[in-house]
Amino acid sequence: MDVESGYLPIQSLDIEAESKITFDLYVNLPLNQKYLLYRKKGGVLATSNLVKFSTGNVKNFFIHKDDYNEFVKYVAVRIKSLVGKETGSEESKKVMTAAAKAILSSTFAEADPAMTGALISNLNDITSMIIDSALESSKKYNKETFKKFCELAKRGTDYQKHPVNVTSLAVLMTLGLGYNNEKILSDMAMAGLLHDIGTSKLSPSVIAKAHSPEQLNYVERAGLYRHPEYTLQILKEKKVKASPFFETLVIQHHEEFNGFGYPRGVRGFNLNELAQVLRVADELDHLICSGYSSASESKVSVTELMDRLHRDKVIEPTLCHRLRHLLV
Ligand SMILES: [Fe+2]
Ligand SMILES: [Fe+2]
Repeated sequence: MDVESGYLPIQSLDIEAESKITFDLYVNLPLNQKYLLYRKKGGVLATSNLVKFSTGNVKNFFIHKDDYNEFVKYVAVRIKSLVGKETGSEESKKVMTAAAKAILSSTFAEADPAMTGALISNLNDITSMIIDSALESSKKYNKETFKKFCELAKRGTDYQKHPVNVTSLAVLMTLGLGYNNEKILSDMAMAGLLHDIGTSKLSPSVIAKAHSPEQLNYVERAGLYRHPEYTLQILKEKKVKASPFFETLVIQHHEEFNGFGYPRGVRGFNLNELAQVLRVADELDHLICSGYSSASESKVSVTELMDRLHRDKVIEPTLCHRLRHLLV
């Protein structure tokens, strides 16, 4: 996908039917690779048009790079309107699930890793606006703490974008499961950003093999398995106050429903539901990253990942089923 052309792919499901769009919308003609103006800024798309797109061969719309900020605002405003509202209404949960599913599933529906990469960047920008507003109203984290967290997040990860990608995916899945409480969302966002900073206490050679622990010796592996604890230690050293829920998310992000996870081997329903969501977000981002690095395994197979997590009971089966529904 030629993102250099000045046009960026967006998902047809990002567009709200029967309401004015705030950017020019293009389609790409695959035969001659031309971009054709489909609707001008201020125009409206009928529901029937959108249905045709989401079920047809041409799944993506395009916007010009100059309109990108407008587009991000447009989608974030749609989702933000759902955050913090009275919970409990089945109707509002359904709307949130549908919005999260729309963004997540169309991101992973792409076989082309470059396209997935472009779409996940859109997703990060959209989610950061949602997180900003959740932070503002949660009062738990002020802007200073947030800045400190973002600085910290740069440490201890082997993929630059990993903390940001994990945060976006985890927050969207949390929304999709029906949680729209600002405190829960901001704790999830912070846990996504910081979950791996503990790896900064490990040697570079251990970090390099973190995704193939079978290549590590016993001592190295024991160190790797303690990185969730190191994360909390670092925060204590930095005198960052975190909530018990945040600490649970971080400490359990490699635990498994079957009890074979680490560092503590927490098992079954003792394992927090949203810590498992963070775990899935973590694995999804590793899929995306491996898509970048190797042409042979470029196809991002979310289905295979979810099959494995279900078969090996890494994730509680009902939750696994619900997450799969959001992703594919
Ligand atoms: Fe980790
Ligand atoms: Fe991670």
